[in-house]
Amino acid sequence: MGQKSSFWLIAVGFLMITGSGVAAEKYLPLPPASIAQWYKPQNDRQVWLHTMFSLRREMQAVTEYAAAGEQALTQKWAERFTGNYLKIAEMVPEWKDELEYRWLERLRSAAETGDGEGVELALRKIGQGCKSCHREYRAVTAILYRTPDFSKIMIKKPTDESADSFADVMEELSSLINRIKIATDDSREQQALASLEQLRRRLDDLGEGCSACHNDPAPRERFLGKLTRDALEDLERGLKQGDKKLAGRSLGGAAVYACARCHAVHRSPYDIRETLLP
Ligand code: HEC
Ligand code: HEC
Ligand code: HEC
Repeated sequence: MGQKSSFWLIAVGFLMITGSGVAAEKYLPLPPASIAQWYKPQNDRQVWLHTMFSLRREMQAVTEYAAAGEQALTQKWAERFTGNYLKIAEMVPEWKDELEYRWLERLRSAAETGDGEGVELALRKIGQGCKSCHREYRAVTAILYRTPDFSKIMIKKPTDESADSFADVMEELSSLINRIKIATDDSREQQALASLEQLRRRLDDLGEGCSACHNDPAPRERFLGKLTRDALEDLERGLKQGDKKLAGRSLGGAAVYACARCHAVHRSPYDIRETLLP
């Protein structure tokens, strides 16, 4: 099997068994660093991923044509499959041992002679190899090489042209939300309303920052659009009418629509990636 030299400890938990603590650990093998050249930013395209999609498509074509007894087309797709399958080891030499060379030869000769059962058996064996590599490396590779990186994203302040780091803006948003909550609790409406105005401004600034990576307006609208704006309007109404229930519920809504939903998409994968990076 593949390269297992680079293990990372990702989680240490404690399992309590009949009163005595037993440490539970989980190790996650990392893919060889050479795979990075097949991903952005080192490459313009997601070459590795597209090779994988081709493999799946080619396997399907071989399976379907072999079942239908279409020898010529079976052979055509088996040859295409062979080319891409061998690319795995060209792209990441450390993974040479993961390939089923013997079954690949059996596949090609079965395709050549129109041996449908032989094709089926060879594909099944090759497919087990696909699965075994995926079990070890697929999720961690996607996290490492396809998770958007927020470490260099800066959020501009329109008032004075300065900019803050993404993490600082997050801290600020969190303080504003909590300040509104505390002020509401203590019936200090003016303070709550002032913080609400600031929260709106900073969410607008954050929204401008989405365009560092997103070209279309849809993702921004999803988290920082109408749902969030309406919740903040209800919050304002609640504060002005002294309706703490409405205020509390609307603030909670805004925190889900704007904060929690974006965190589910962007924050957790980013956090895991940061943990895994050397
Ligand atoms: C030596 C390791 C390895 C082998 C062998 C391998 N893959 Fe993959 N495959 C990966 C990795 C790593 C990913 C994750 C790539 C990513 O998400 O960016 C992946 C992802 C994929 C995906 C995308 C999964 C999805 O649904 O998003 C497909 C499809 C795929 N592989 C098909 C195949 C097929 C078919 C084979 C066998 C013929 C195969 N792979 C063999 C490493 C391997
Ligand atoms: C560092 C780059 C980066 C930044 C900054 C960023 N995103 Fe994303 N986001 C991505 C990538 C990459 C995806 C994966 C899917 C894609 O390409 O659209 C994604 C996916 C999403 C999705 C789910 C898929 C979709 O398109 O609906 C949403 C929603 C989203 N982002 C919202 C936002 C919002 C809102 C902001 C700003 C507050 C933001 N993102 C900032 C890179 C980024
Ligand atoms: C782009 C979508 C996005 C939106 C919208 C968003 N966050 Fe975040 N948040 C992130 C990401 C990504 C991180 C991880 C940043 C990092 O660790 O540098 C993060 C981290 C945080 C952190 C931890 C900061 C730290 O330094 O550890 C807090 C607190 C936080 N967000 C609060 C909020 C609050 C409150 C809101 C809503 C008012 C919000 N976020 C909206 C993406 C988002």
